[in-house]
Amino acid sequence: MNTKQFMIRDENGKPFIMVAGEVHNSASSSAEFMEHIWDQGKELGLNSLLLPVTWELLEPEEGHFDFSLVDKLILQARSREMKIGFLYFGAWKNAQCMYAPSWVKEDLNRFPRAEVEKGKNKVALKDFYGFPYTSLSYLGEETNKADKKAFIALMKHLKEVDEKEKTVLYVQIENETGLQGAGREHSLKADELFNKKVPAEFVSYMKNSLSSMTEDVRKAVEEGKEEGSWEEVFGACAEEIFSAFYIASYVEKLAKAGKEIYPLPFSVNCWLDKGAKAGIYPSGGPVSRMMEVWKYVAKDVDVVSPDIYVQNFCQICEEYQKLNNPLMIPETAIHSYAALRLVYTIGHYHAWCYSPFGFEDMGKPFNAFQGFLFGMDTSDPLLKTPQNPLEYAYYAKAIDSMKDLLASKYSTSSLQAISSEEKGKDTLLFSSFGFKVIMNVQLFSRKDGVCLIVEKEKNEFFILGHTAMIVPFSTDKEKPNIDILELEDGKFVDGQWQKDRRLNGDEASITLNEPSLIRIKLFSYK
Ligand code: DGJ
Repeated sequence: MNTKQFMIRDENGKPFIMVAGEVHNSASSSAEFMEHIWDQGKELGLNSLLLPVTWELLEPEEGHFDFSLVDKLILQARSREMKIGFLYFGAWKNAQCMYAPSWVKEDLNRFPRAEVEKGKNKVALKDFYGFPYTSLSYLGEETNKADKKAFIALMKHLKEVDEKEKTVLYVQIENETGLQGAGREHSLKADELFNKKVPAEFVSYMKNSLSSMTEDVRKAVEEGKEEGSWEEVFGACAEEIFSAFYIASYVEKLAKAGKEIYPLPFSVNCWLDKGAKAGIYPSGGPVSRMMEVWKYVAKDVDVVSPDIYVQNFCQICEEYQKLNNPLMIPETAIHSYAALRLVYTIGHYHAWCYSPFGFEDMGKPFNAFQGFLFGMDTSDPLLKTPQNPLEYAYYAKAIDSMKDLLASKYSTSSLQAISSEEKGKDTLLFSSFGFKVIMNVQLFSRKDGVCLIVEKEKNEFFILGHTAMIVPFSTDKEKPNIDILELEDGKFVDGQWQKDRRLNGDEASITLNEPSLIRIKLFSYK
């Protein structure tokens, strides 16, 4: 459980849980196009959208900024009482530079490309379907300055137009940074830096950070020399650490300057490594195995966040909480684990944002790309099935409606959850009561289940979930017997519980067949 102070706050300084959706990349390039997407998000119960704002549209001509689109997006959000996380696509988008303005792309001398291979500005990625690849160099000082200038302009503008209303709750800097095709760049400048001595303070920090490191990184750092070139100090991981160091330094320049102007929370997101070799996934990007480097270098970045399309969702959530990193999921799949994971991510990991990517498509049959991305080739039928949007909306609305209560219990054991994806856990213990949560029984028509329980008072709980039979018990040895005093289904309206039915008789066996929200008050006695 993460103990870092809750960081996303609304205009009143109140903690805010972003039940969000990230739009397809090109959607927010047109305010007109966005109109119905905002409505779709609202219908789906989302309280926020994550929207790209791109360097090319912000600064189409050098030094000439255009914030008209940003302003329209903010007004659209306000008119629906929704919030925004802006994703600043500057030099990097999926380790490439497609969102850099033309004047940047065209000037290869001033804004050099990454030399994946010596002397080449563009390569075919052998390990990635021969995909043609180019990216701006992470060592390009002019690129960094120009990118920073655009980011500063954006932050200045947000401060001016939104500081009071706080529609924009955080900003992601760049998108899936890193270098594909090689572990590091191969320009003369890159070679020179790679052969130079690693800064002593960084070496000593790395040598003192072994405990949190991924095994192969730890081994490389442990076995490396106390001083010397990157290769001498970091051995087999030298290229990735080198890239991470310089990419994080690049991003930190934007973050630091941005924070000085308008201190919103800043995040970076990553393309997961999936156990591959650096360069197959973007080398130097903020993956958990490079988190020690990123946390050291990019001190003004508050969160490192994973884009999770893989099947071992929970394992990734665990990994991205190391070093006290507050969990947020800016992108995830829209297969039928989406709703279950929303509930579990909030209830178990106390994440401050959960956001399926391309939520606009939720419920539609997957296209070939989504099928590949979501793991349709496996035997798990749920990975091949689109998320039912009605079910998603039920959970999204429930979580949004109870977010004040939930947020007040973050970082405490008063908010817990169980998911059918995490085998072996079937009991949740609170201060005076516990709950056995039985999912795997013949009774249920579906195999996936989730159950979030929040302890409002010692004897009063709210339970949200499906495919769960719930058996409360007392944890007080002196008072081992219990009775149910009150059991109701209902909803939260304006933060207050509103009961629908009083449940008793057959319903007192507490079996959540379908997505449900209930309130239970218990009594224990001798
Ligand atoms: C991850 C990227 O960050 C997104 O912008 C988008 O390209 C998705 N992948 C596509 O699935």
